Amino acid sequence: MLLKDKIALITGASRGIGAETAKLFALEGARVVVNYNNNEAAAKQVVEEIISKNGQAFAVQADVTDSDQVEKMMQVIGNQYGYVDILVINAGLRFKVAPFMQQTWEEFSWKYYGEMKSFYNSAKAVIPGMIAKKSGVIVAVSSGLSRHPGMGFSSHSASKSAVDALVKSLALELGSSGIRVNTVAPGLTITDATSWMPKEQQDQAASRTALKKNGEPDDIAKVILFMASDLSNHVTGTYLSVDGGSAMI
Ligand SMILES: NC(=O)c1ccc[n+]([C@@H]2O[C@H](COP(=O)([O-])OP(=O)(O)OC[C@H]3O[C@@H](n4cnc5c(N)ncnc54)[C@H](OP(=O)(O)O)[C@@H]3O)[C@@H](O)[C@H]2O)c1
Repeated sequence: MLLKDKIALITGASRGIGAETAKLFALEGARVVVNYNNNEAAAKQVVEEIISKNGQAFAVQADVTDSDQVEKMMQVIGNQYGYVDILVINAGLRFKVAPFMQQTWEEFSWKYYGEMKSFYNSAKAVIPGMIAKKSGVIVAVSSGLSRHPGMGFSSHSASKSAVDALVKSLALELGSSGIRVNTVAPGLTITDATSWMPKEQQDQAASRTALKKNGEPDDIAKVILFMASDLSNHVTGTYLSVDGGSAMI
């Protein structure tokens, strides 16, 4: 029970990496807030699965790029659980995969601002409570593409690099308040976000890893759990790749 009695908010937890993280956190004793944007049915399914295994969770809708919606979500969490010990900034914003020269500023900046706003809104909402308790953990889900370019992924790479930088700034500013802030950076992971890729492209990506396979959501969830738990209690401001070794190749 690595997270016994902890309250964890996971943004974008109705599907993919966030959903697996929510289920794993609940198995480890956390009370979990399953945030979603559009997909209420999927979020409810995650909650039902957790409850069926004697875990505790509830789902709450909020577009995390919208500060008013995040504020309302925090009111719901406040009424239900009181505070947040662990924030996982995970929501996966859709974006246009295309060469830089084929993107308008609106398309490019939508991803960038969205990624920054979802980080800003959710972090700002939980940090005051963490400072008051003198403890808290924030884990941001970045991407291997924040450090290594991918054809057509310029907006994603730029915005995830900004996430990495913000993690380090917050780790520095909040460390003396007992708050740890870290980045987990997945490589290609099989979720709805990557299901559009032809199998050939997925296989090519797998062949560029040392382990010769792409990630599954639970591969990433286990590392997020490590970062969220006391197993990493002296780790902050760091960037942990979970990519089968592709970053070193
Ligand atoms: N899959 C990969 O290969 C990969 C690689 C590197 C990094 N990542 C990162 O890992 C994270 C999770 O990605 P994933 O592959 O698990 O994505 P996914 O399967 O597409 O799931 C996206 C999740 O984010 C939620 N979401 C999207 N926009 C939101 C918003 N504005 N407000 C609140 N929730 C929102 C979705 O909610 P609804 O169901 O309601 O739409 C869904 O729960 C992302 O940050 C992504 O950039 C993924």
